[in-house]
Amino acid sequence: MKLKDKIVLITGGSEGLGFSIAKLLLEKGSIVHTIARDKKKLKEASKKLNNPNFHTNQGNVSSFESIELIIKRIGDIDILINNAGIWLEGSLLSNKQDQISKVIDVNIKGVIYVTKLVLPLMIKKNDGFIINISSTSGLVGKGNQVVYVASKYAVTGFTESLKEDLKTTDVKVAGFYPGGMNTKLFENAGNQKDNQQWMNTDEVASAIIFMLENDATMLIDHIVLKKRKNLI
Ligand SMILES: NC(=O)c1ccc[n+]([C@@H]2O[C@H](COP(=O)([O-])OP(=O)(O)OC[C@H]3O[C@@H](n4cnc5c(N)ncnc54)[C@H](OP(=O)(O)O)[C@@H]3O)[C@@H](O)[C@H]2O)c1
Repeated sequence: MKLKDKIVLITGGSEGLGFSIAKLLLEKGSIVHTIARDKKKLKEASKKLNNPNFHTNQGNVSSFESIELIIKRIGDIDILINNAGIWLEGSLLSNKQDQISKVIDVNIKGVIYVTKLVLPLMIKKNDGFIINISSTSGLVGKGNQVVYVASKYAVTGFTESLKEDLKTTDVKVAGFYPGGMNTKLFENAGNQKDNQQWMNTDEVASAIIFMLENDATMLIDHIVLKKRKNLI
C-alpha cells in the first residue's frame, strides 16, 4: 500500500523500535499516532521527530478505559502496530507476583485490548493492516525469561488466530519476530545488558515498512529477524 496520508497507530512509539517505525512512516508521509505512559518521553520523541503528523497520547495499553478514549478520539485507523512491551528477566521462582501480573497486563492484555478497540472500524470498511510485535522469544523457549517468553507466545497465538478469523476479509494481520535489539527495553526493567552491538531499530523498522508497502499481491505473513552472529 502507499503509506502517504495513511493513519497509523503505533503503541509505544516514544522510544526504541516504536520510535524508529514512527520515524520511517513519517518520512513516507503517514500520519502517526502513538500511545505511551511517560509524558516526558513522548515530548522528547515529538521534539526529535519535529513533524506535525506525529501525535502523542499519554495512556497505558493495559487500561481498557484509558485507551478506549484515545482510540475513539483518533477515529479511523488504517494501520495498527502493536509494539508496546516490557521485559521481565529471571526464573519463575525469582519473579514477584506483581512483576508477573504487569508483564501479562502490558504484553498480552495490551495487544488484545488495543486490537479489540481498533478492529470494528477496520472490519466495517473491510480494510486495514495489523502488525503485532512478538519476538523470537514468542517462537522458541528461552532460559531465564520464562514469563516474558510466555507473554510473547501469547502474542504469537493471538496473531495466528486473529489471522484465521479475518482471512475472508481484507483486514490483514501479520506477526513480527525480532531477536535482540539495541534499545532500553532491559534497562527500563532494571536489567543491564551489553546490547550495543545488537540489531539497530531503524534497520529492523525498515522490514515493517517493506511488509506494509508490499501487500498488493502478496501477504508477508510474518518476518523473523536475527542478528548475524559473525557480525557481532
Ligand atoms: N529490544 C529487544 O531486544 C526486543 C527483542 C524482541 C522483541 N522486542 C519487542 O519489541 C517491542 C518494542 O521493544 P523496545 O525494545 O523498543 O522497548 P523500549 O525501548 O523499552 O520501548 C517500549 C515502548 O513501549 C512503551 N510502553 C511500555 N509499556 C507501556 C504501556 N503499558 N502502555 C503504553 N506504552 C507502553 C514505552 O513507553 P512508556 O514506558 O513511556 O510507556 C516505550 O515507548 C516490545 O514489544 C518488545 O517486547 C524487543
